[in-house]
Amino acid sequence: MEVVVKETAEQMSRLAAEMIADVVRNKPRCVLGLATGSTPEGTYEELIRMHKEDGLDFSQVVTFNLDEYVGLPGNHDQSYRYFMNDRLFDHVNIRPENTHVPDGMADDIPAHCREYEEMIDQAGGIDLQLLGIGGNGHIAFNEPGSSLASRTRPKTLDEKTRQDNSRFFQSMDEVPKYAITMGIGTIIEAERIILLAYKESKARAVSCCVEGPVTAMCPSSALQLHPAVTVITDKAAAGKLKGDYPDEPRRLILGR
Ligand code: GLP
Repeated sequence: MEVVVKETAEQMSRLAAEMIADVVRNKPRCVLGLATGSTPEGTYEELIRMHKEDGLDFSQVVTFNLDEYVGLPGNHDQSYRYFMNDRLFDHVNIRPENTHVPDGMADDIPAHCREYEEMIDQAGGIDLQLLGIGGNGHIAFNEPGSSLASRTRPKTLDEKTRQDNSRFFQSMDEVPKYAITMGIGTIIEAERIILLAYKESKARAVSCCVEGPVTAMCPSSALQLHPAVTVITDKAAAGKLKGDYPDEPRRLILGR
């Protein structure tokens, strides 16, 4: 596991965007796994800038998002489909039909989850997966206790996660109780993975992810089993790490 500690969130976002852009340039038909939450917003802004100013071409790129709230339609402003359209897809030349976010309104959710897995397989698997991390160490919506071999499925959200995400809703009652999420087993099949974390509120989660034992109680610790993970943090989120980590990755050129 490669850990890179940057001074600021802006530097983190720039590095993550450069790494994603490398994959897109090396493999124009690449498959990107994307994340929501406030953490990747700066990375998406930088990718939009690269598209507008440097011509970064998304015309053949295919994307799969990690997760979606059950019960929120794509036009709800807190749905992850809305977030992705608003923060990235509407501002680059990606084909809408090449973007995939689980459907929180699917009639048969277990069947939809199976189809989602099949679509990822048919697309050739994920070349690069971008991740944030929850305060409890979750990735996507794989809450503590999630099987490290889990696949895309419906999941009950932890109260801590609902509270963390309640800042985006009018009241706690409006925060969905369930989500559809890629599993840990799905995520760690990606060729490469970038996990981003900033702010002190993520320091405990980053420590359990990077330096803790591999345990379902800290789902992100499963990333230690993956051969090509880069964890990019700021100083605050790295505050509880014991190791000494560089401020640049060992390699910048990505792609299969
Ligand atoms: C949600 C998402 C995760 C995300 C986490 C952290 O729970 N399902 O994918 O990593 O929030 O969000 P933020 O980046 O806003 O701290």
